[in-house]
Amino acid sequence: MDQKLDDVIQQLNEIRTKFQNEIKDCANADDVESLRIKYLSKKGIISGYFALLGKVSPKERPLLGKELNSLRSFAQENISEKSESFNISKGSKSFFDTSLPGINPVLGRRHPLRVVEDEIKEIFKSMGFDVERGPELETDYYNFEALNIPANHPARDSHDTFYISDNLVLRTHTSPVQVRTMENYKPPIRIIAPGRCFRKDTIDATHYPTFHQVEGLCVDEGITFADLKGVILAFARKLLGEDVKIRFRPSFFPFTEPSAEYDFSCFKCGGKGCRVCKGSGWIEISGAGMVNPAVFKYVDYDTDKYTGYAFGMGIERIAMLKYQIDDIRVFYENDLRFLQQF
Ligand code: PHE
Repeated sequence: MDQKLDDVIQQLNEIRTKFQNEIKDCANADDVESLRIKYLSKKGIISGYFALLGKVSPKERPLLGKELNSLRSFAQENISEKSESFNISKGSKSFFDTSLPGINPVLGRRHPLRVVEDEIKEIFKSMGFDVERGPELETDYYNFEALNIPANHPARDSHDTFYISDNLVLRTHTSPVQVRTMENYKPPIRIIAPGRCFRKDTIDATHYPTFHQVEGLCVDEGITFADLKGVILAFARKLLGEDVKIRFRPSFFPFTEPSAEYDFSCFKCGGKGCRVCKGSGWIEISGAGMVNPAVFKYVDYDTDKYTGYAFGMGIERIAMLKYQIDDIRVFYENDLRFLQQF
């Protein structure tokens, strides 16, 4: 029987080698399962050899048993390891496959108001404007007084101001940055000043107690209303396309003289009249005008030498037009279903 046992052990070694090659070639969980049936099921190759245990002499039995057990556990271990590597995609956590693609973290994104502010800034920067900022908590002096709106002036009524104290307000517009900039720099000046403003408005589809403006200011020798119109037109074309038209209507602001309100032709209907422009063909943007010499007096600018223009712009307004949003409240509700669209 000695010779025969050697042959059997030789066969078991060959089976081990064959099994090793076959498991390497398994491409999926089904392949592994077929291999398990082929080698380890009741009628499988390895199981068949266990029947020999009863036929060998008692002396040989322990050695053959040891060899068979070792082969069987080798096969079992390899099979479970291999099938786990396929199972990882089914949610098994015990195996980490470094070749799987990673899971991307959810990225934040810019708020639509920021997207529009950035776009406005880029356009004005390309025309040589610098960007200034001022505080949201302002003194009465900068928000009103130095803009030629003295105490008890009726223009204050339209501002619905949040007073923090007699002297401190939440700024009602970005115009105070005009004064702060002129205090800090001598002409020539060409700046825009984006930022948050506050008014005690009752909330509805077009009003919110906080909103954003972009202020524009240009001061130099020989600046005229034509320069203002040229800059506004160039801006409108860059923002909305070459076909856009602009118009100025006479208006009043204490800090500009003459003053105007300006409109863009409706980008939706091209000026024919539609729902967006309420049939008029025009969309109101904000106020503008030539800097009132009374304001220059507050910052010690030579009113004989310098002239300037200033304009405002509502960021919500432009964002609503650009994205056809009909309710200002969505900008402040932080609903991800809205924010994720930008
Ligand atoms: N500050 C004005 C407003 O909030 C807009 C404006 C800015 C008007 C600059 C003229 C010049 O209504």
